[in-house]
Amino acid sequence: MTQKELSTKHVLGIKYLTPEDIRLIFETAENFKEVINRPIKKVPSLRDVTVANLFFENSTRTRISFELAEKRLSADIVNFSASSSSVKKGETLLDTVNNILSMKVDMVVMRHPAPGAPAFLAKHIDANIINAGDGTHEHPTQALLDAYSMREQLGDLQGKKIVIVGDILHSRVALSNIFCLQKLGAKVKVCGPPTLLPKYINELDVGVEYDIRKALEWCDVANVLRIQLERQDIKYIPSIREYSQYYGINKAMLDNLNSEVIIMHPGPINRGVELTSDVADSDQSIILQQVENGVAVRMAVLYLLAAKR
Ligand code: CP
Repeated sequence: MTQKELSTKHVLGIKYLTPEDIRLIFETAENFKEVINRPIKKVPSLRDVTVANLFFENSTRTRISFELAEKRLSADIVNFSASSSSVKKGETLLDTVNNILSMKVDMVVMRHPAPGAPAFLAKHIDANIINAGDGTHEHPTQALLDAYSMREQLGDLQGKKIVIVGDILHSRVALSNIFCLQKLGAKVKVCGPPTLLPKYINELDVGVEYDIRKALEWCDVANVLRIQLERQDIKYIPSIREYSQYYGINKAMLDNLNSEVIIMHPGPINRGVELTSDVADSDQSIILQQVENGVAVRMAVLYLLAAKR
């Protein structure tokens, strides 16, 4: 029998979700995808639920996607951005959040540069917390929407081959993708310069491939990551130009492969660095489908967590 509720009251990381949780989120997201493609896209599921979107770090896709998901579910929304708040005056994370919760907030969506910040909050407050990206740690809803988008293309991911390309070291998307894909039975490899792979990579039970052409020949899907220069306090690669020469994916490379590879990217893309525009905008790319699916997947996560209240 299909599981009817999540095993957890927070979504802090894919690490803490069961494969059944992930499948339940996908089933629920399928229904919401149908809803958001109707002429009337709104349902009353989160009426009288107040959600605070707390963004202590920049975001375009995740912030808009959560806000849209909450609006489609008829939630009341409070938006907070650290750059225009009293955090700038030295207020602690806990004080900031407790002040917001005093205004009777039920759920918190949080992005923060410090790994573990959402987990810290979950220990101190009663609201349901969704991690919208914590530093270099996890970005669970990105991994869920990535895996959901792969399933739409390939069906069940059991045995499917996925390569995650690029700056694995600084990527919360990489870690969440690895956990999520492994829980769904996919085979996962990472590919990037040795300096951009974490030292603990061997503990994650993934393959490692340094040659991008071999990686592309092996996989069904390449999930290509952004080079995160803003998190690189020292030089990990000689230059962006050299990175692009060795690890950038262009159309000629894809056309020379024996089979058609699906190209994904969580965004924002550095065009001409990770992917050339003729790849990013090609029929092989499902980058905009990922964004569309993000709203449905986040609606599912919000809806299922609200049911735990
Ligand atoms: N994919 C992603 O997290 O993008 P944003 O940083 O724009 O939210």
